[in-house]
Amino acid sequence: MKQQIKQEIQDFVKGEVLFSEPLKRHTSFQIGGPAEVLVIPRDIDDLQNLINYLYNHTISYQILGNGTNLLISDQGLSKVVIKMTNLFNWIKFKDTKVKVGSGAKLPVIAKKAAERGLSGLEFAAGLPASVGGAVIMNAGAGNLGSIGDLITQVKVISPTGKLKQYQRRELYFSYRKSNLQEKEEIILEVELELKPADKENVHNKIQELILKRKQTQPLTMPNAGSVFKNPPGDSAGRLIDQAGGKGLRVGGAQVSTKHANFIVNLGSASAQNVLDLICKVKKLVDDYFGVELETEIIYLD
Ligand code: EPU
Repeated sequence: MKQQIKQEIQDFVKGEVLFSEPLKRHTSFQIGGPAEVLVIPRDIDDLQNLINYLYNHTISYQILGNGTNLLISDQGLSKVVIKMTNLFNWIKFKDTKVKVGSGAKLPVIAKKAAERGLSGLEFAAGLPASVGGAVIMNAGAGNLGSIGDLITQVKVISPTGKLKQYQRRELYFSYRKSNLQEKEEIILEVELELKPADKENVHNKIQELILKRKQTQPLTMPNAGSVFKNPPGDSAGRLIDQAGGKGLRVGGAQVSTKHANFIVNLGSASAQNVLDLICKVKKLVDDYFGVELETEIIYLD
């Protein structure tokens, strides 16, 4: 990217502009080379100005949420990376509906919903994702539900900087998929419909799910959640485990010994280590069960 472009971005953006920012600081895997430019917009106008500028200069960008489902290349990204978590992390309840900014974190929303005796988001209490990332990926937890089930409206900004609102009927969600993945739009806010329920029950359900995750997932080590999608009717974790994949290692990346569908960063893993380990695991499961696993985490390069 030309120096002049970087200078102009720094001059007009009101939020933070960082150059050569190590993306490992922004991903739960703690892996990823530098972003040539990383912008944390201050408000919607700031974001809109930036998108317009990038569009007019045909510069590509990458949106970053909470970075919990990502593997970023060791070479980093020679794009403008726009980090959304500090922007739009507000949460507003109205009756059984809740409107949230795309930077709000799922566990925070789930907890506030529980305090109001609203059910539906219990599954999300242990998913560290931002709303924007969760909606794009239709994040969920097993058969406990996924965020797409609750959505009534989504407000986005288009790659040309225009604001747009989608109604439920225009949106399609399936397992870890949404039609928002095809559009290069940035999610700004989301409205969810919840159900009135007994406060105590909602709270207890959340505690139970968080406890189960602590007991079964390697949450104390850097990771990016489930690495593979569950094949229909089965579980990637079970298949990898039974094929003998637990503990398999490439450099600093290891298949968790606690949950086989997690890869943990032992401290010095490169993105290449993780990619090589993913290949090994896929081959192992294919040789053993004849099942081709599909990755859930997103690789950015
Ligand atoms: N299993 C094994 N060995 C393992 C891991 C799991 O045999 O090493 C077995 C378990 O005993 C269980 C089955 O596999 O019978 C399913 O495992 P689990 O209940 O842990 O659920 P999962 O299908 O692996 C899904 C989501 C998780 C979510 C949990 C909540 C996917 C790909 N993963 O995991 O989501 O936390 O349910 O129960 O759908 C994520 O998406 O990042 C994520 C962590």
